[in-house]
Amino acid sequence: MRYPYTLILLHWTTAALMVALAISGLLYSYQIVGSNALIFHQWGGQLLMILVFIWIGTRLVFRLGPRNPDHGWWEKMLAALVKGALYLLLVAYVVSGYVTASGLRSTELVFPINVAFARSDAGDLFLEIHIALKWALLVVLSLHVIGTLKHSLIDRDDTFRNIWITKKG
Ligand code: HEM
Ligand code: HEM
Repeated sequence: MRYPYTLILLHWTTAALMVALAISGLLYSYQIVGSNALIFHQWGGQLLMILVFIWIGTRLVFRLGPRNPDHGWWEKMLAALVKGALYLLLVAYVVSGYVTASGLRSTELVFPINVAFARSDAGDLFLEIHIALKWALLVVLSLHVIGTLKHSLIDRDDTFRNIWITKKG
């Protein structure tokens, strides 16, 4: 089944935005670029939040057609686990980043949450989580890409083509 174009667009814009957010977050954290990286990061983060909301909403409302019948049960299970983990990671990034950004002295958030909570010990926990998530992202995204490479290079099936922007892929 080829993914609907809306989901293809959401998948690749989200992926590109996540790369930009990871780079800007690290540039800020290692003090390579100062506050400009964090300003970009917060605006990008708010855009990501909207995309994630639309993506998950679309997936909940519309059912996808039948998946590739050639995939073994363990492949289907592993792929579903990894994709579920990626959705969870997106939500965890958005929530933890949002709380953290609400506690900044000059936040770029349009609707920051309660600043006292964001700066409390509980709020600090969200920062810790936000910082730790990059390792989880590294592992899960690597599995996702390795799975895609297996289908493209070993099985030579349509898995990647089904989500690529052009039909050729
Ligand atoms: C941060 C970046 C990425 C995120 C968050 C992400 C997330 C996801 C999610 C959640 C799905 C499942 C869509 C659904 O069925 O509901 C998916 C599907 C897919 N992604 Fe990614 N992805 C990312 C990057 C990539 C990259 C770099 C590749 C290719 C190398 C890729 C290849 C695929 C493929 C082939 C599918 C379809 C899998 C299938 O049909 O079972 N993704 N991705
Ligand atoms: C997938 C999305 C995201 C990724 C990959 C990401 C990645 C990162 C990374 C790598 C850092 C540097 C901390 C470290 O060393 O690990 C960081 C910091 C930060 N992020 Fe994100 N982030 C994302 C989403 C968000 C969102 C949605 C927001 C809020 C709107 C946000 C707000 C922040 C803030 C405020 C910091 C600075 C924390 C501090 O050191 O005070 N992030 N992010």
